[in-house]
Amino acid sequence: MDAFSYRGNELYAEDVPLAEIATRFGTPCYIYSRAAIETAWRAFEHSLRSHPHLVCYAVKANSNLAILNLLARLGSGFDIVSGGELERVLCARGDPDRIVFAGVGKRADEMRRALEVGIHCFNVESVAELERLNQVAASMNRRAPIAIRVNPDITADTHPYISTGQSAHKFGVAADEAVAAYRRAAALEHLEIRGIAYHIGSQIISMEPLLQALERLLILADALASEGMALQHLDLGGGLGVRYRDESPPDPADYGRVIASRLRERKYTVIIEPGRAIAGPAGVLLTRVEYLKRVGDKHFAVVDAAMNDLIRPALYDAWQEISPVEKRARAEAIYDIVGPVCETGDFLGRDRSLEVAPGDLLAVRTAGAYGFSMSSTYNSRPRSAEILVDGAHPHLARKRESIADLMAGESIAPLS
Ligand code: LLP
Repeated sequence: MDAFSYRGNELYAEDVPLAEIATRFGTPCYIYSRAAIETAWRAFEHSLRSHPHLVCYAVKANSNLAILNLLARLGSGFDIVSGGELERVLCARGDPDRIVFAGVGKRADEMRRALEVGIHCFNVESVAELERLNQVAASMNRRAPIAIRVNPDITADTHPYISTGQSAHKFGVAADEAVAAYRRAAALEHLEIRGIAYHIGSQIISMEPLLQALERLLILADALASEGMALQHLDLGGGLGVRYRDESPPDPADYGRVIASRLRERKYTVIIEPGRAIAGPAGVLLTRVEYLKRVGDKHFAVVDAAMNDLIRPALYDAWQEISPVEKRARAEAIYDIVGPVCETGDFLGRDRSLEVAPGDLLAVRTAGAYGFSMSSTYNSRPRSAEILVDGAHPHLARKRESIADLMAGESIAPLS
């Protein structure tokens, strides 16, 4: 579903005109659609209904409490990568028993807290981490549930910065060292082996590498079973892509169906960790044109959002559609849409054909995932507001930061 569509010449989020949101809450701001998030989550959930499963939304994609709470109400699980994400999920009333905890650098205090609240599983990424987790669990007189994240050495055809499953990447344990790592885990008294995990990358637009990785995982799971280490679950990670421009990623419904049918004869519970496919299409970044300027032959639309609000274009050269919020007849030109930050890489889009005038509103589409969650305060720019739209109701899910917020916690040294 596309929750952002034109009625006449005006772009809406569900039943609310984006222009109205700009007037009420100011710009720049992120706007999310409740219906789009829930529909996407349900598509994953429904597609796996024939098999025991757990959909763990990847919190890093968009960790706003209002969004986590929507998903918690639907019964979602969560994939977290830090103590901060853990507290967010708890605060949004997520069920700790549906949390999986990934990441290559878990600290002892993060492990302790996760054990204390009783998470579903630690996705362990190295033997050293197994040892540390065992120690932490021992000090609490607990057993920590674990899966080992295995690096299946599969190339996902995506941006090199977001591909994670090749042998040269920092993630997981090499496939040929996995059995030895499981043997070590089995020998550690305060660990309980629950499953095996992989995640090969993000914005994957073909089913093939995901299914290849699944085959490799099944071979490993069989090898482990033959040594008496029976697993309860397979965690296939996230990574399903979305359409930013003209990509045709697999439909979540098909993805789940194919997996469920491949695993039909197997007893394993399947865990998936979609982030982008749930939050991405459900959000836009709303920004206002401050100036139009020409430098030589080049036209720039200078807007009030910048790379600190949405870093994907600068960081990955990512392309996201930019649409006028009110279609009006204006002079058409090819623009670079740039922000006020002092970096040449500060652009939201380049070479876009647009009809715009100063004061117009633009919407950067498919910005619900890895948008606000990767934002910063670079150039001392307060982070934007976030609005969750539910039908005709816009809810302020995060108020715009103030300049005072920016300086909170800083102090001038008492120099003599
Ligand atoms: N599980 C694990 C272990 C992950 O590392 C990730 C994403 C996910 C699940 C969710 O993947 P998704 O379904 O969203 O593709 N900032 C980049 C994306 C980085 C993804 C990192 N890991 C971007 O803006 O494209």
